[in-house]
Amino acid sequence: MHYWLTSVRVNWLRVMDVKPRLVDQLVDAGLERREARWMVEEFGDDPDALEAAQRRRLRGEPLQYLLGHWPFRTLDLDLDERVLIPRPETEELVDVALKELATSNLAAPLLLDVGCGSGAIGLSLLAELTERGVRASLVALDASPDALANARVNALKHGLHAVSFVHSDWFASLDPTLHSRFDLIVANPPYISEDEFTSLDPILGYEPRAALVAPDACGVGGFADVERIIREAFDWLGLTGVLVLEHGEAQGDAALCVATESGYRECHDVKDFAGHPRVLVARK
Ligand SMILES: C[S@@+](CC[C@H](N)C(=O)[O-])C[C@H]1O[C@@H](n2cnc3c(N)ncnc32)[C@H](O)[C@@H]1O
Repeated sequence: MHYWLTSVRVNWLRVMDVKPRLVDQLVDAGLERREARWMVEEFGDDPDALEAAQRRRLRGEPLQYLLGHWPFRTLDLDLDERVLIPRPETEELVDVALKELATSNLAAPLLLDVGCGSGAIGLSLLAELTERGVRASLVALDASPDALANARVNALKHGLHAVSFVHSDWFASLDPTLHSRFDLIVANPPYISEDEFTSLDPILGYEPRAALVAPDACGVGGFADVERIIREAFDWLGLTGVLVLEHGEAQGDAALCVATESGYRECHDVKDFAGHPRVLVARK
């Protein structure tokens, strides 16, 4: 390892063909080629930064935190260990939400992103709706001040101004005048049980635990936050408002059951690209 670091510095001085060699050296040191390319692209002009990133990656840190940004749909989101790394299945949730919103054909919908993290879901919706000429506004809430700070940075980075950020334990601190006002509520709450968490890839230990793990409820592992959001979202939705919520793959039936009990008029569940039940759609 030390030899490799020294050789990086030496190769730096060779102008010709230096970057493919850097990639090869990272691969020789144990990184996947795809990751090595990304790291060289990011830090290829700064040997110290590349060296530090390589060390952190080989220790097991997620690539996304090392790079400090990651693509999500049309946005390049800044992120660090204060927020969850947005997942590909959550990109699908945004598609579902856009489709649901399109059926209402609203010119200026009001959106709520519950547990916004980096802002991935809400800010993507805002950006993509703006591109379609829809004048949406967004309220983005999270219990983590760090996550809210990160989401604010991403809103500024992408020039998304029709958004307000609220520090809140789910719906508890939302302005009461927003009752029955939202056209769309989106959420990707924590839904992994304590038991399951211990058996998962240790790389998850780099992400905020509060973004991943939830207590059990209704006899279902990790279901407490999903259940609470389904029940409480109902009162914050407008007349034909819709909740689009990501849940664990074993939570589909329970989510549908709670949604029906809570009074939603139309409920169905959407499978993710791996064929697992993943997104509850519940219309008021
Ligand atoms: C699974 S992460 C989702 C982050 C982001 N929406 C995404 O999809 O990438 C869950 C988020 O919910 C937030 N959260 C957890 N408990 C909360 C609570 N009681 N009230 C509000 N937000 C909460 C976490 O801080 C975290 O940002």
